[in-house]
Amino acid sequence: EEIEKGPYQHYMLKEIFEQPESIKRAMQGRIDEEYATAHLGGLNMTSRELLEVEQVVIIGAGTSYYAGMLGAYVIEQLARIPAVAELSSEIRYRNPVVRKNTLYFAVSQSGETADTLYALRELKRKGARVLGICNVVGSSIPRESDGGVYIHSGPEIAVASTKAFTSQVTAFYLFALLMARMRHLSYEEGLLFIRALREVPERLREVLEKAPEIKALARKYAWVKNFLFLGRGLNYPVALEGALKLKEVSYIHAEGYSAAEIKHGPIALINPETPSVFLVPHDELREKVLSNMKEVKSRGGKVVALCTEGDPDVREIADDVIEIPAVYRYMYPYLMVVPLQLFAYYMALELGRDVDQPRNLAKSVTVE
Ligand code: G6P
Repeated sequence: EEIEKGPYQHYMLKEIFEQPESIKRAMQGRIDEEYATAHLGGLNMTSRELLEVEQVVIIGAGTSYYAGMLGAYVIEQLARIPAVAELSSEIRYRNPVVRKNTLYFAVSQSGETADTLYALRELKRKGARVLGICNVVGSSIPRESDGGVYIHSGPEIAVASTKAFTSQVTAFYLFALLMARMRHLSYEEGLLFIRALREVPERLREVLEKAPEIKALARKYAWVKNFLFLGRGLNYPVALEGALKLKEVSYIHAEGYSAAEIKHGPIALINPETPSVFLVPHDELREKVLSNMKEVKSRGGKVVALCTEGDPDVREIADDVIEIPAVYRYMYPYLMVVPLQLFAYYMALELGRDVDQPRNLAKSVTVE
């Protein structure tokens, strides 16, 4: 396979920069403005079957698991259907209870991850309906599932997943919209969600222009051995993904945590050598995150914050700030994850790591 890197030094960087386009492809032909809903024909489910869904369980590994976690939050918040994400490797051996009106999703870029494929088989054996959210067309998971959504990201070559994450998330956003519009969500609210989603690629272009700023930040923090990544609500899975990206490509130890949860343990790690990266969107949790930030600062921890443009309170507390445009609350995860991908990339570059082929990792793990 000869996919060119073009002007980019690494596939990872190329794939990060492709996201405005790859997210558009994930939405293409799937948005219905007239009825403010989504069309996902590949689900192979009738409207009646979709209405009968009482719970959603999402399984995946690595980055795909975090996309599923964010998907679960959005399905629950927007569509008001109880939803959770589970690690494929855990659900498989837990002798899971499969209930009639639970819908399962198996998320996998490659469609070949053994943990996820075997978990899917175990669920199907118990009579579950399992849908796939995959990138590679014709791979094992879509072949063995009852239907699903292809994300059409195009080939992802770098071992660390980037553009697949934002497109998996997009598939869940569309599914959440569809389910919400069949239930309580009004036409106007549906339209608001669609307009905000359609705006994401443009806003992401603005975020990508910050690459030099993020590179400079990486240079400043390249000496650090331990990081905390902290977010809440929809941005909690994003914090987990930011920490995973950094570990994978730079080999720096990083922990993702809910910003609320640090007081129950991780705050003991705070010292001048352990900085915290805070995700501070302009949403209903902002005040709470600000107070978590103050707790870290008052214990001598350095704070890097991702916040909305011109947020004076964050500037006052944080040591370093990366600003992103203000958007509809549901869309912050997109704008937050991209700077974290870039940060991981530039940290790895700064430390001379093998960015596209990190040690000990494989693009697709086809053994248990
Ligand atoms: C491997 C890769 C990760 C990826 C995970 C799940 O561990 O190194 O980047 O997130 O597998 O892969 P999948 O293809 O199922 O999304």
